[in-house]
Amino acid sequence: MNILVINGSPKGKNSITLQSMLYLEKKNIDHQFKFLHIGPIIRKLEKDFSEAKKMLEKADLIIFSYPVYTFLAPYQMHRFIELVYDNDVNVKDKWATQITTSKHFYDITAHRFMNENMLDFGLKVLPGLSQDMEDLLKEIGRKELLDWMKMTEFRIEMGIFRARKERAIESQRKYEAKLDNIPKTGKKKISIVTNVEDNDSSLQNMIEDFRRSIPYEATVFNIGKFPFSGGCLGCFGCAKTGKCVHKDGFDSYLREQIQSADSIVYAFRIKHHFTASSMKCYDDRQFCNGHRAVTAGTPTAYIIAGDLGAEENLRDLIEARASVGGNYLSQIVTDEGEDVSSSIESAAKALTFALENNIAEPRNFYGVGGNKIFRDLIYEMRGLMKADHRFYKRNGYYSDLPQRHICRMIAMQFVGLLLSLPGAEKKKGMMMKGMLMPYKKVLEQK
Ligand SMILES: Cc1cc2nc3c(=O)[nH]c(=O)nc-3n(C[C@H](O)[C@H](O)[C@H](O)COP(=O)(O)O)c2cc1C
Repeated sequence: MNILVINGSPKGKNSITLQSMLYLEKKNIDHQFKFLHIGPIIRKLEKDFSEAKKMLEKADLIIFSYPVYTFLAPYQMHRFIELVYDNDVNVKDKWATQITTSKHFYDITAHRFMNENMLDFGLKVLPGLSQDMEDLLKEIGRKELLDWMKMTEFRIEMGIFRARKERAIESQRKYEAKLDNIPKTGKKKISIVTNVEDNDSSLQNMIEDFRRSIPYEATVFNIGKFPFSGGCLGCFGCAKTGKCVHKDGFDSYLREQIQSADSIVYAFRIKHHFTASSMKCYDDRQFCNGHRAVTAGTPTAYIIAGDLGAEENLRDLIEARASVGGNYLSQIVTDEGEDVSSSIESAAKALTFALENNIAEPRNFYGVGGNKIFRDLIYEMRGLMKADHRFYKRNGYYSDLPQRHICRMIAMQFVGLLLSLPGAEKKKGMMMKGMLMPYKKVLEQK
C-alpha cells in the first residue's frame, strides 16, 4: 500500500508526532511510506500546490499526522486543508486516518475537526490515534501504535469505514439590517476580533449592528489583515521571555491593543468546520502567553455567520475555550434564525449586563478538566515554563494538587473506617448529615 503521511507539525522533520510515523515505517515493511512535511513549506505550497496534489492523488492511504494546537490542528494544517479545497484535489474514495501527539488537552475537538474535513474530501475515514507526546517512549504506547496500525489494515481489508456522500454547502445567507446606533455612554472597552473578508458584507453588517447596539466603544481588529510573518513554530522560544521569535509585532498588538479591553468578542464565518485559517494563526500565536488565562474574568460573545447548528464540535470548542479561559460566554449569535437583528441586540444586552455585573464563568468539565491537565503539565515543566509557573503559583492553580488536601484525605480515611465497622448502615444517615454541615453553614450566613 502507498501511504502518504501529511506531516502538519510546524517543526517539520523535528516533529515528535512524526517519530511515531517513522517507527511505523520501520515496522511495516509491506508498505511504502512517503512524507510531505507541510509545516515549513506552507508559503511555498500557497504558490505551487502541484507536487502535493500529485502525491495526494497517488496515495492509497493518507495519514494526517500533526500535534494538537489550541483545541485543533496547527495553523499550517488548516491552511493545507484550504489549499486542498482550492486546488480541486481529487482524493475521493481513498483511505484516510489521523494521528496526533499532545497532552490530550482537547485532542477530541482536533480529531473531530479533522474527521469532518476528511469526510468532506470524500475520503473513507478510519479511526485515528491520539497519543500523549511521550507514548512512543513507553512500551504500552508503542503497542497502542502498532495495534492501531493493525486495526487500520484490518479495517481496510474488511472495508469498514466512515464516509459522507456529499459535502454540506456552506451557508450564503445575507444579513442587511442596520440597527440604531445607541449612545456610547459606558466606560468599558470592547475588542472585536474577526477575520471577515472584504466581500463578506453580511458578516460585516452583523459586526456593525453589534457595535451599534452596545453602549461602549468597540474596536474591530481584522486579524485576516494582520501581516503575520508565519504561524507558531512550536519552538518554545517564548517560554522564558514571553516574546515570539517572529518579529512581526503580533505580541504587542495582542497584549496592548486586543487583550487590554474589558471584553473580547469574536466574529467569523464558518469555513471547513472552523473558520478561515487566519483565525487559527491568531489562536496559535497566542502561545506567546503560554498557558496563562490572561483574560480570565472578562466576558466574551461570538458573532457567527454560518450553520452553527450543524457544527456541534465547533460549539463544544467555543464553550470549552470560554470555560478554560475563565471567560463568561454571554451569548453566541448566528445568522441562522428568523430575526437575526434582535439576536444581535440581545447579545449586546447580555454582554453589557455581564460586564456591568462582573458575571463569573461557571466552570464545568471543559474548564475543570482542561485546567487540571495544564496544572499538572506546568508543574512538571516548571523549569522550562517559568512565566506560566509564576502565574499558576500566584493565582492558586496548584492549590488543588491532590496531595494538598490533607484534611479532606484524613477525614475520608476516618469515614471509610467508620463505614467498614459493623452497623455501618445506620451510620450512613449520620454521614450524609455530616457532609451537608459546611453547606448549611453557608446558607445560614447573612
Ligand atoms: C502553539 C501550541 C499549542 C498547543 N496546543 C495544545 C493543545 O491544545 N492541547 C495539547 O494537549 N497540547 C498542545 N500543545 C502541545 C503539542 O501538542 C505537543 O507538544 C505535541 O506533541 C508536539 O508535537 P510535534 O513535535 O509533532 O509538533 C500545543 C503546543 C503548541 C506549541
